[in-house]
Amino acid sequence: MRMDSLKQKFPFNHKNLFLKFVLTIFFLGLAFRILFFHSLSPPVLESPFPQKVTLPEPLNPPLSSTLSQHVPQPPPVLQHLPQTQDQLSHTPRSEKCDYFSGDWVPNPSGPVYTNDSCDLIESHQNCLKNGRPDREFLYWKWAPRECDLPQFDPQRFLNMMRNKAWALIGDSISRNHVQSLLCILSKVEQPVLVYHDEEYKCKSWNFPSYNLSVSVIWSPFLVEAAIFEDINGVSSSEVELHLDKLDSKWKDQYLDFDYIIFSTGKWFLKSAIYYENDTILGCHSCPKRNLAELGFKFAYRKALKFVMNFVVSSNHKGLIFFRSFTPDHFENGEWFSGGTCNRKAPIKEGEMEMKYLNKMLHDIELEEFGKAASKASRNGVNFKLVDFASLSQLRPDGHPGPYRQFHPFEKGQNAKVQNDCLHWCLPGPIDSWNDIIMEMIVNG
Ligand SMILES: *[C@@H]1O[C@H](CO)[C@@H](O)[C@H](O)[C@H]1NC(C)=O
Ligand SMILES: *[C@@H]1O[C@H](CO)[C@@H](O)[C@H](O)[C@H]1NC(C)=O
Ligand SMILES: *[C@@H]1O[C@H](CO)[C@@H](O)[C@H](O)[C@H]1NC(C)=O
Repeated sequence: MRMDSLKQKFPFNHKNLFLKFVLTIFFLGLAFRILFFHSLSPPVLESPFPQKVTLPEPLNPPLSSTLSQHVPQPPPVLQHLPQTQDQLSHTPRSEKCDYFSGDWVPNPSGPVYTNDSCDLIESHQNCLKNGRPDREFLYWKWAPRECDLPQFDPQRFLNMMRNKAWALIGDSISRNHVQSLLCILSKVEQPVLVYHDEEYKCKSWNFPSYNLSVSVIWSPFLVEAAIFEDINGVSSSEVELHLDKLDSKWKDQYLDFDYIIFSTGKWFLKSAIYYENDTILGCHSCPKRNLAELGFKFAYRKALKFVMNFVVSSNHKGLIFFRSFTPDHFENGEWFSGGTCNRKAPIKEGEMEMKYLNKMLHDIELEEFGKAASKASRNGVNFKLVDFASLSQLRPDGHPGPYRQFHPFEKGQNAKVQNDCLHWCLPGPIDSWNDIIMEMIVNG
């Protein structure tokens, strides 16, 4: 039925793989446009496609019994590592700890904040408030195989970050991430919102007793982009992307920040016209234009190269992270064809491969970061990769799914519900990202 309705709109020979691919990209673009926007108005929700909504299962068995089935053996090395913060900071540790290979292990103490203790959680990610019935997804923490990873200590962080300025720069996943950081820190002190733009996409907070500022800057491409979308995320024209110009939204403040976490990703899948020197190079997914199709991989690589080259040549004296983009977990369909994410617990490595598109973006990131990193060390710029893609791939249980909306099944279990299998519930797996970042700051 879905294909039938598609064919009426886009007549094509269904053996034509190229067109199929273009169409997939088009709908993926639409998905991200919708999911990445702060609010989603009812008309956009009404997808033209029939929704296959899998019903949420009744409440899980008690946590203790479900946990025991999933308990991976704790890595033996954990037992030999010093346990306290003080010991940790004085013990020279393996320079080579790979924080990004490990396992999700049970964490009976659960998250440090809740939807009641933190009022900074956006409604679309406030899964418990929205009625998500299962709780097991809250009781896991990331454990690297090679070293101990202590839980993020907000008091310690605030003490270290007196008079410092942080910025998270990227798309709505960066906004998702900043909420996690703020919620953890709010256990010690409540941040004060000191700035927001009209659409609340760029915001800054201050922790008054520490004069720590934390900003989130919405710059989904990192490079300059003209985006022609209305408030519902409905696009009237292709994005115009300047692959050789930095987005002034962050560039103008770049040197004011002591710590920066850059990330980007999914917006590059959208239909776009690519520019260099203000001249059109070609486009991606623009069948109506008489332009060369260059593909999003071309643009992603070029934009990352340009941004990273700026960073490693910039004389920045602080610490700059590049965060790899994190995969979605729509299963049994995509966002527009009833894809869902109903899992209740982490998966094991290899159980679910990263989707092809996600893997392509991730590979480009790793390659470009690798090239930039050697230049960074030559130039004395502190540029680090936080590669959360693989550990996030293991958490299909961590997304809002239908609980991006308040009580989605209020009108009955068959209600049409748009699932979000891309952003992350708060509290949720994304909180572990901060454990790792903290550890990289403290121990390198
Ligand atoms: C937090 O979530 C619970 C459901 O788990 C809900 O009853 C409560 O009202 C929520 N609190 C806030 C402040 O939204
Ligand atoms: C607060 O921190 C900023 C840097 O983020 C610094 O410029 C400013 O002087 C600090 N204010 C005080 C009162 O120390
Ligand atoms: C843009 O300008 C640079 C430097 O002037 C040049 O090397 C490059 O080839 C130009 N690119 C295009 C597409 O014109």
